[in-house]
Amino acid sequence: MKKDEFLFFRSSNIALYRGDAAQVLKLLPKASVDCIVTSPPYYGQRDYKIKDQIGLEVHPQEYIDRLVAVFHAAKRVLKPSGSLWVNLGDTYWSGKGKPGGEDKKQKNRRFLRPQDKSGPRPLCAPKQLLLIPHRFAIAMQDDGWIVRNDNVWYKVNPTPDPVEDRSASVHEYVFHFVLQRRYHYHYKAVSVPSNGGNMKKAPPSVWHIPTATNFKKHVAVFPEELIRVPVLASLPQNGTLLDPFCGSGTALEYAMSHVKGSKGIGIDLSLSALKEARKLLTLAIENNKPLKS
Ligand SMILES: C[S@@+](CC[C@H](N)C(=O)[O-])C[C@H]1O[C@@H](n2cnc3c(N)ncnc32)[C@H](O)[C@@H]1O
Repeated sequence: MKKDEFLFFRSSNIALYRGDAAQVLKLLPKASVDCIVTSPPYYGQRDYKIKDQIGLEVHPQEYIDRLVAVFHAAKRVLKPSGSLWVNLGDTYWSGKGKPGGEDKKQKNRRFLRPQDKSGPRPLCAPKQLLLIPHRFAIAMQDDGWIVRNDNVWYKVNPTPDPVEDRSASVHEYVFHFVLQRRYHYHYKAVSVPSNGGNMKKAPPSVWHIPTATNFKKHVAVFPEELIRVPVLASLPQNGTLLDPFCGSGTALEYAMSHVKGSKGIGIDLSLSALKEARKLLTLAIENNKPLKS
């Protein structure tokens, strides 16, 4: 198969592909993108109702294996000096066995999640925090990636987590992976004031950011502020950003409006997500948003 068979939209600086991320990535040219910024579907969180979707695997390990396979394919497409940033949240095994019952935490959750059934022990014990993000990161290390940070996204306005026997969950992760010791990192673009403003220092690894509030139809959009450091640190001017789970195209739009001359490649399985991405990206190009760097 050729990549153009998956092509959904192309303009002078954007290409959107419709298909399974691992499959499409295998068709993209080697070492052709400068950075990858993405948020895959979380484990057991949503049913996008599309064939081949990631996220509803019966066992958490199958989910991790699929994600690692996607990024294994992405490794070939990323330049050796490039960075991969992955936003991921964790999940509890529930084992309530009442998939049709009311879920007090997410009233709009109306599908049979893998973690609502009984599962193989010891991992899939009821109430177990699965540690999906770190299992994923360790599997990525085993596949040859170098982990530079497990940045914590502290959600300053979290969805209420009505529990009485543990702390409320208010954070997710943004992993920074690279392929070699030396890589492109635009320190000046992301460094923060130090020593009363006379000096600069690296951005901290805990990011205080509200969840996204927007007008989009897509249900799992990440906030622009979450991808500020990834994009500004890792995308050089005139470079190419790839998002293999691009959804409504947030990362592509942010790159184009904040880094001069940037190009974007997006992949998603969902037709409705790609239609929204195409509409918003086309509008952003037409409005010719001023570049902030
Ligand atoms: C968390 S959302 C990404 C949202 C995006 N960051 C945004 O701001 O709009 C994950 C996306 O992955 C897509 N997806 C699920 N399985 C996929 C697969 N196997 N290959 C490509 N995309 C997939 C879903 O359709 C969904 O749009």
